[in-house]
Amino acid sequence: MVCRTVRVVRQVWITGAGGPEKLQVREAPDPLPKDGEVRIRVRAAGINFADILAREGLYPDAPKLPAVIGYEVSGVVDALGAGADEALRDKEVFALTHFGGYSEYVVLPADQAIPKPETLSHEQAAAIPVNYLTAWQLLVVMGSLKPTESVLIHNAGGGVGLATIDIARHVGATIYGTASAGKHAFLKERGLDYPIDYRTGDWSAELDRLTQGRGVELITDPIGGAHWRKSYRALRATGRLGMFGASTLTESKLIGPLRLLSVGVSLPWYNPLMLMNRNRSVFGVNLGHLWHEREKLREWTGTLLQGVADGWVRPHVDKTFPFAQAGEAHAYISARKNTGKVVLIP
Ligand SMILES: NC(=O)c1ccc[n+]([C@@H]2O[C@H](COP(=O)([O-])OP(=O)(O)OC[C@H]3O[C@@H](n4cnc5c(N)ncnc54)[C@H](OP(=O)(O)O)[C@@H]3O)[C@@H](O)[C@H]2O)c1
Repeated sequence: MVCRTVRVVRQVWITGAGGPEKLQVREAPDPLPKDGEVRIRVRAAGINFADILAREGLYPDAPKLPAVIGYEVSGVVDALGAGADEALRDKEVFALTHFGGYSEYVVLPADQAIPKPETLSHEQAAAIPVNYLTAWQLLVVMGSLKPTESVLIHNAGGGVGLATIDIARHVGATIYGTASAGKHAFLKERGLDYPIDYRTGDWSAELDRLTQGRGVELITDPIGGAHWRKSYRALRATGRLGMFGASTLTESKLIGPLRLLSVGVSLPWYNPLMLMNRNRSVFGVNLGHLWHEREKLREWTGTLLQGVADGWVRPHVDKTFPFAQAGEAHAYISARKNTGKVVLIP
């Protein structure tokens, strides 16, 4: 009889809805790749704001808790299932994961594993999938940003924010962005033309002043709720509002489902006649709902990898935390301390 030695792998679990203390390292059996799959030994796992919402029980797409979340990893392929491309063996790759990324090993379909550019560290590669694909979809695929136009990026200092600055700069547009004041100097260095402090003042009055009342052609807004109304009002004629998150959920003092409800009732409704008469449009982006469009994701990733080679995709890792300090990593983001990506190291 052949016995397989069962290795255990370390994973970060959300043990239940709540604060950062709900993140705990647990051991699980070593996952085996099935037909057409590869196993990746993870060197870096990206943290996204959605993970914080999931931990707080505020993310409708999250798996039922307790669960291992995590949307992206970078590492080395260490096992192949039958039929998986042999060329991937021992290759350094990065990938989007449909949860389960906070783990020493992940198993996923071989065609999801993208060879990692040698010029990037694993930490930087883990900062690419969610941030840059979301930013690409917002600015280029759906936002149709042009060099002669201007864009306002909300939360310009977060992971998606920095990726959005990179892409807007590549397009050649004029860039306005909201962020905590302490991040402005760094964001200017990265290419943000007009940083706006939205924490201590009214960003729309400042944008009005900077644009002589004209507004901007594109706004990317992950804050959500009633904030989308305010962003919509700041659009110039022909303007587009890209809605892609609801970070305002974490600020509500209400508890549980009441928080979702309070944000839900504050949502704007867009009337077709009003859109027509104002020459404006609104659109939504949710990368987590694009798993059925892998061809598109592959094509966009190809363009972004060319951007890495050409130097306009510059993933910036602010800080790394070991798995055992995953709670501290979440707390760091919730305290708005991060500028760019926060990454977990197994
Ligand atoms: N729809 C999609 O496909 C998609 C994909 C990725 C991300 N998103 C959304 O995009 C937003 C940014 O995500 P991310 O991963 O880039 O964020 P992140 O890197 O975790 O950055 C978070 C930053 O956002 C700002 N922020 C705004 N509201 C906040 C709040 N209530 N609590 C804490 N920080 C807050 C803070 O910076 P400042 O105070 O300096 O602004 C903070 O440093 C989130 O709403 C997320 O859900 C959506």
